[in-house]
Amino acid sequence: MCGVIGYVGSKPCARLIFDGLKRLEYRGYDSAGIAVLDHGKIDLVKAEGKLVHLEPRLVELPGGATMGMGHTRWATHGAPTARNAHPHLHGDLVIIHNGIIENYRELKEQLIKSGVEFKSDTDTEVVLHQLHADLDRKGDLKTAIMETVKHLRGAYAIGIIHARDPGKIYVVKQGSPVVLGAGNGENFFGSDALALLPHTNRAVFLMDGEFACLTADSIDVWDFSGKPVRRDPQVLNWSAASADKQGFKHYMLKEIHEQPAVMSSMLSRLVDLKSNSFVDKETGIDALDLGRVKNVAIVACGTAHYAGQIGRYMIEEFVRLPANVELASEFRYRNPCIDSSTLLIAVSQSGETADTLACVKHASERGCQVMSVCNVRFSSIPRASDAVLYMEAGPEVGVASTKAFTAMVLSFYILSLAIGEKMGRMGPQAHARLEKSFDAMRRLPSLVDRAVNAAGVIEEISHKIYESQNMLFIGRGASFPVATEGALKLKEISYIHAEGYAGGELKHGPIALVDRHMPVVSIAPRDSQYEKMISNIEEVCARQGRIIGVGDLEDDRFRSICEHYIPCPQVDDDHLQAILSVIPLQLLAYYAADMRGTDVDQPRNLAKSVTVE
Ligand code: F6R
Repeated sequence: MCGVIGYVGSKPCARLIFDGLKRLEYRGYDSAGIAVLDHGKIDLVKAEGKLVHLEPRLVELPGGATMGMGHTRWATHGAPTARNAHPHLHGDLVIIHNGIIENYRELKEQLIKSGVEFKSDTDTEVVLHQLHADLDRKGDLKTAIMETVKHLRGAYAIGIIHARDPGKIYVVKQGSPVVLGAGNGENFFGSDALALLPHTNRAVFLMDGEFACLTADSIDVWDFSGKPVRRDPQVLNWSAASADKQGFKHYMLKEIHEQPAVMSSMLSRLVDLKSNSFVDKETGIDALDLGRVKNVAIVACGTAHYAGQIGRYMIEEFVRLPANVELASEFRYRNPCIDSSTLLIAVSQSGETADTLACVKHASERGCQVMSVCNVRFSSIPRASDAVLYMEAGPEVGVASTKAFTAMVLSFYILSLAIGEKMGRMGPQAHARLEKSFDAMRRLPSLVDRAVNAAGVIEEISHKIYESQNMLFIGRGASFPVATEGALKLKEISYIHAEGYAGGELKHGPIALVDRHMPVVSIAPRDSQYEKMISNIEEVCARQGRIIGVGDLEDDRFRSICEHYIPCPQVDDDHLQAILSVIPLQLLAYYAADMRGTDVDQPRNLAKSVTVE
C-alpha cells in the first residue's frame, strides 16, 4: 500500500525522488520520508502527513547526493507519525519497506532480548535490526540479505542502502510489488512503473523470492538462495503524459473523461467490428482450454467486485454456465467448490491486490484455469494467471476507480460473448445475438461520450444533495451492481454515508430509512426490468423519498416521479447499459465530494493499491 522509490546515478537525486513520490502518493499518504547517501554519510528527512509537508525539508538534504530512496506511507503497524515514517536508519544501514512482516512480534522480542532498542512502532524496524545483526555476522550485505529473508514471514518490497557500500542499492521482493527501471548511467526502483516513467520506460520485474543490486551502470538479480537470475528489461507502453492531470482539476475527473477513448481503444484491440469477431489473442481466451470449463468463479475486491457481479450476469446469459462472484477476501478463507473444471476469473485494476492474488494462487493449486482481467501490465495477478485480458485503460491515479470499472464491464462483455460463441453455448439465436451485441458495441464510445458530457446537469443536482448525511442507491438487474458502485463512489470520496440496494430488496428492510430527507438515486434504464423498477421507485415516492432518477432522456413517465432527473444515453442492451448508467453516478460523487471540499483524489484512510490483506 505504501509507495517506494529509489535512484542511483549521477544526477542530484533529492528532488527527483520527491517527484517520484508524488507520482506514488496515491498508494499511501499519511507520512513520508527520503534518505540519501553522500560522501559515505546517510542523511534523511521525514514528515507526518502528505508530501507537501516533506517538501520544505528537502533543503536539509545534501544537494550533491546522487543516490537515495523515498517512501510514502499507508500505516499498518504504528500510527502515522514522523517517528514511524520511513526510511528507518540504524548505524550505517537505512531501509524502506512496503508490505507487512507477519512475524514481527516474535522477531522483535528476540531482538529486544539481544539488546536492540527500537525507535518506532513499525514492523519494518524489525527488518532493519535483523539485517544489521546478520550484516555484523556475515560481513557483506548480499549474504546478510539472504540470511535475513530466512527470518521474515509476510509480504515485503524493501530498499536498502549501506553507507559503507556506496553506489549500491539493494531491492528485495517477496509478495509486495516493486519494479526496477533501467536507465543510461542511472537505475531506479519503484512500487510501480508510474513513478519511473518520466525517466525510463524500460522495466525489470523482480519475482517473489528475488533480490537485486542496482548501481548506476548495472542491475544484478539473484534468487534468495543467491543463484543469479537473468532478467531482461521490458518496454512499457504507457507514457509519462498519460499519468498527468492534463488540465483537469483532479485525476478522477480526467479519468472519468477518458472513458470514451478507453472504450474505443479497447474495442479496436479486442474485437473486429468489421467482421463481428473477437481477437482471441488479445482477449486471452486462446490460452484457455475451454473444453474443460464447467463452471466459473469470479473473485475481486471493491469496485472490481461490483464489475464482477455484472460479469456474472453476462457469463450466465452468454455462456450458460453456473457462475459465482465473490469478494476475494472471503473466497480465499473458505473451502470453495472449485476444481479443474472451474474457470476462475480474477478482476483487478492494479493487478496487485493481495486478496485477489491469493485467490489466484489458491485456485491454481486446486487445478483451476485462471484468467485475469487487469489494467497494469506485468503486475502480479496477470503473471500468476494462465490467461490475461489486459484492459489497457492507461494509468488510473485517482484512488476512486472510474475508468477501470467501465473497462472491466466491457471486458466481461467481450469475454463472455467470445467464450459463449467459442464453446457453442449461445443457442440457435447465437448469430442474431452477436449481431445485436456488435451493433451495441459500435455505438458505445459515442454514447459514453454523451454520458460524460452531461456533467453540467449533474453538477447542478450535486448542489442539492452534497450536504446530505445519508443516501440510497437502487437498481435492478445489471443496475443493481451499478447502484452499489455508485454508493461506494459517493461514500469513499465525499464521506456521505451511502448504500446500494437491489430495487426489489428495499421493502425487506431498508425502506424503513426512507423519509423526506433521504435522497434515493434510482437507476431505471429502459431494460427488461424497467416496469418492476418503476414500481419500486413508486414505493419510495409513496414514503416521500427524494428521487434522483437516472434514465432515458425521453422517459417522461420516470422523469415525472423524480425530484431531479439525470438523462442518460441508452444502448438497448441490458448489460452494456451498465457502462452508461454508472457514469452519472461517478460524476455525482465527484461533484458532491468537491463541493464538500474533500481530497477527491486521495480520500482519507484509503490507498490505491491494496497490497496487504
Ligand atoms: C474503489 C476502489 C477499490 C478497488 C479495490 C480493488 O473506488 O478503487 O474498491 O476497486 O481496492 O482494487 P484492484 O482493482 O486494483 O484490485
